[in-house]
Amino acid sequence: MKFFVDTANVDEIKQAKEMGMADGVTTNPTLVAREKRPFRPLIEEICHIVEGPVSAEVISQEAQGMVKEAEDLVKIAPNIAIKIPMTVEGLKATKILSEKGIRVNMTLVFSPLQALLAAKAGASFVSPFVGRLDDIAHDGMKLVEQIVTIYENYDFATEIIVASVRHPLHVLQAALLGADIATIPFKVIKQLAKHPLTDIGLKRFLDDWQKVADKLL
Ligand code: E4P
Repeated sequence: MKFFVDTANVDEIKQAKEMGMADGVTTNPTLVAREKRPFRPLIEEICHIVEGPVSAEVISQEAQGMVKEAEDLVKIAPNIAIKIPMTVEGLKATKILSEKGIRVNMTLVFSPLQALLAAKAGASFVSPFVGRLDDIAHDGMKLVEQIVTIYENYDFATEIIVASVRHPLHVLQAALLGADIATIPFKVIKQLAKHPLTDIGLKRFLDDWQKVADKLL
């Protein structure tokens, strides 16, 4: 399972990379706005930090505008993937871009049929937003399960990025379902490494060692 870092923060991306947890990065307009830095240089810097795909999202709502933005964004670096919203115009843009060999990450996906359409349009990635579904008392992981089934039924090559991940349980469930990728906030990546028994066990080892260290070294 690949981990993408769900952030536009360069420090977080560097730290995740040092941990071996940055197979790619996903940004969105909200995450980029939070950094208060010019968009293109920021994306360019991120593309140099990680080797894997870096998703940058278009702002246009018409297919032609999306395509124009995408063609401009892919000039930044070879590892750019274009985030396109799941709309009719987005599907048109995805078809055009995928035929040109440009990778599309179809975002804001909330139903299995939207995911089916994304795959048929040629998206390289589909991003079901599990946390936002959970927020409105829908089962986000059920959506991922249905997309996995549909993609297996028809052998689609589109990779599933479990997005809007809010806590470690989302990552566990995504892994158990065999999702290709989870895009995870850095805070949650760090949470994944934590276990109270690890902390207690480490403290005990160090305390026991300290009691006799002067005799053993
Ligand atoms: C990633 O592709 C999404 O933009 C991100 O996971 C959304 O997360 P949020 O629902 O916590 O904003």
